[in-house]
Amino acid sequence: MRKKLIAANWKMYKNPAQTKEFFRDFIPLVAGHDRDEIVVCPPYIDLHSALELINGTQISVGAQDVYWKDEGAFTGEIAPAMLTAIGCTHVIIGHSERRQYFGETDDTVNLKLKAALEHGLTPIACVGEVLEEREAGLTEDVLRRQCMRAFSSISARKASKLVVAYEPVWAIGTGKTATPGMAADAHVLIRGEAAKAFGEAFAEALRILYGGSVKPENATALMSEEEIDGALVGGASLDPKSFAAIVKY
Ligand code: PGA
Repeated sequence: MRKKLIAANWKMYKNPAQTKEFFRDFIPLVAGHDRDEIVVCPPYIDLHSALELINGTQISVGAQDVYWKDEGAFTGEIAPAMLTAIGCTHVIIGHSERRQYFGETDDTVNLKLKAALEHGLTPIACVGEVLEEREAGLTEDVLRRQCMRAFSSISARKASKLVVAYEPVWAIGTGKTATPGMAADAHVLIRGEAAKAFGEAFAEALRILYGGSVKPENATALMSEEEIDGALVGGASLDPKSFAAIVKY
C-alpha cells in the first residue's frame, strides 16, 4: 500500500503574514489526520514562518524549486543544503511553469533531482504534456522522454525518496481536469518508465501524484483511482478550508 501524499503548491501567492493566517486555520482542520501525508510548498520567503507554524504537527514543508550546486556565485538561487538547514524536507522540481517560463529543461530537471536526492530531500518531480502534444497523440512519447531524462544516471538506492507528479499542462489552473481514467493511464506509463530505470519493486512502491485543477469536488473520484497516489494542488490549496477538504477527500 502506498501512503497518499497531498501537496500544496502555492506558486507565487502569500507573504509571511498570510502564511500565518493560513496555518492558523488549516492546522485544526487536519488535526489527527494521518491517513495521508500532507506537504505545503510556499514561496521561499514563507518557508521559515511555515516551518515554525507546523512544528509539532504531522505537516511537512517543501520548496517550489532548488538549484543543483552546493553554493557559489548564482544570484537568486537556493541550494539544497540551505533548504535542509531550515528543516525543509520536500521540493517540487520541474514544474511546468518553470519549464514554460524559466527555461527549465529535462536536463536541468535531472541535475536538480540528483542534487535534491543527494541532500536527503524528497523531490516531487513533475512531468506532463501540453495540449498540442495530447491532441497530436504525443502524450506517451512526451511522458516517456521526460521520465527517461529526469531519471537518467540515478541509482535506485539514491532515488528511494523520489515522488513523481503527473500534471497535464492543459489541466493546470484551467478548471479542466484529466478524468481519473486518463490520469491512471499516464500513471501506468510513468510507473513503467520508473521500472525500466529503477526496477519493478521500486516502481511498485513509487508514489505518483496527479495535479491539474484538483478541487474538493473532484478529489474523491481522482483519489479513488488505485494508480493515483496523491495530489499536487495549486489554486485550491490557497484556501485552508478547500485544501483541508482535499486532504480529507
Ligand atoms: P492547479 O495547479 O491545481 O491550480 O491546476 C496545479 C499545479 O500547478 O501544481
